[in-house]
Amino acid sequence: MQTTTMIEMRNITKIFRTEELETHALRGIDLEIEAGEYVSISGPSGCGKSSLLAILGLLDSPTEGSYVIDGRDASNLGVNARAVLRNEKIGFVFQAFNLIDELNVFDNVALPLRYRTPTPSAKDIERKVMSVLTDVDMAHRHKHKPNQLSGGQQQRIAIARGLVGNPSILLVDEPTGNLDSKNGDMVMDLLAQLNAQGTTICMVTHDPRYGDMAGRQLHLLDGQMLEAVAFAGAV
Ligand SMILES: Nc1ncnc2c1ncn2[C@@H]1O[C@H](COP(=O)(O)OP(=O)(O)O)[C@@H](O)[C@H]1O
Ligand SMILES: [Mg+2]
Repeated sequence: MQTTTMIEMRNITKIFRTEELETHALRGIDLEIEAGEYVSISGPSGCGKSSLLAILGLLDSPTEGSYVIDGRDASNLGVNARAVLRNEKIGFVFQAFNLIDELNVFDNVALPLRYRTPTPSAKDIERKVMSVLTDVDMAHRHKHKPNQLSGGQQQRIAIARGLVGNPSILLVDEPTGNLDSKNGDMVMDLLAQLNAQGTTICMVTHDPRYGDMAGRQLHLLDGQMLEAVAFAGAV
């Protein structure tokens, strides 16, 4: 079977410079993610997880290195071109859900489509939103406001919003960090189920129990990637 490479990073570095200090957040990251994979990235606080996710998600650009997402070179894009590509290729799920309290569930999930140019028709938006809400088993709550839902339900809505634009990859940052263990397990089960249906996922977590649910586990240490096997041998 032919595979499609969704993510291809080569020798990515990220240096944060202030007047007095140079922080090497990422030191030569090589990363490939194939379509349909579920990859977890874990590592201690400060190892570069958020910096890597920001570059993967086209929220930030690397200091050096090349990054190709779904066949498009994203290494040297300006802010606007990055935003357009981000809307097309990336779905995000954050620890803090980041839903908009004033909007109901339907409108929260519709948001990425409404930022798209050309904007899809109202009918198209409704079909896509209700379809992803059904995937996360929340279609019956589409008129609720986020604060009328449990944390686990809010994260399922956030996952639906991440998926609505049919992204090349779903980037997930500590999805269970704000949830009790029952709701956390439910969200993790949902991610596993979505991956089984073909969604490509890259998740950052410091919880090894959840990292192990991914098909491939990567470990970051001090801005460098250690493959799981090498990591196990090193400790
Ligand atoms: N905007 C920034 N300016 C300066 N240093 C930063 C910035 N963001 C992150 N860093 C530094 O880069 C390193 C990696 O940070 P980060 O990617 O947030 O790690 P993690 O998410 O694994 O905790 C840390 O040393 C952090 O202090
Ligand atoms: Mg972080």
